[in-house]
Amino acid sequence: MSEKLCVFPGSFDPVTIGHLDLIERASRLYDEVVVAVLHNPAKQGRFTVEKRMELLAKACAHVPNVSFDHFEGLLVDYMNARNARVVLRGLRTARDFETECQMAQFNLQMAPGVETLFLAAKPEHTHISSSAVREIGMFGGDVSPYVPASIAQEVARLLKPQPKR
Ligand code: PNS
Repeated sequence: MSEKLCVFPGSFDPVTIGHLDLIERASRLYDEVVVAVLHNPAKQGRFTVEKRMELLAKACAHVPNVSFDHFEGLLVDYMNARNARVVLRGLRTARDFETECQMAQFNLQMAPGVETLFLAAKPEHTHISSSAVREIGMFGGDVSPYVPASIAQEVARLLKPQPKR
């Protein structure tokens, strides 16, 4: 088991500046940060898992000790397969606290060695979510305040509605 490694799981559909801030802060706490994208066959995301990982890699190009992976099924199974025991999650609001606590408790019950550590989101990021980015972009709004600068144009282009013929 390695405690020098943490896993930051999520949908990242797409990565936001809030996610990036957490990745940067985790990279200063751990030797290695693995960003693990959930591939959920039952819930198709707006971006493919491959594209989400590509966007993550571009956004995190300046972070030396981060790597990217994807997983399917239970997070605890992924953690065990990687021999990892620290799950990192961000908390924005009280609502996050409730759902995240519940998830951490399930994970702790299923895999007693797996601990979830929370980082508080910066106050300026508490309203930012991937779903809001998708909605703003879909209707032609400016997503650049919410996603990392290195991917802002690409995300805007990919979310932009195609003109009807
Ligand atoms: O970015 P998200 O969508 O908030 O991330 C949620 C995620 C991927 C961390 C969570 O849904 C997850 O771990 N899913 C895998 C399935 C699982 O392990 N469920 C049991 C915990 S209730």
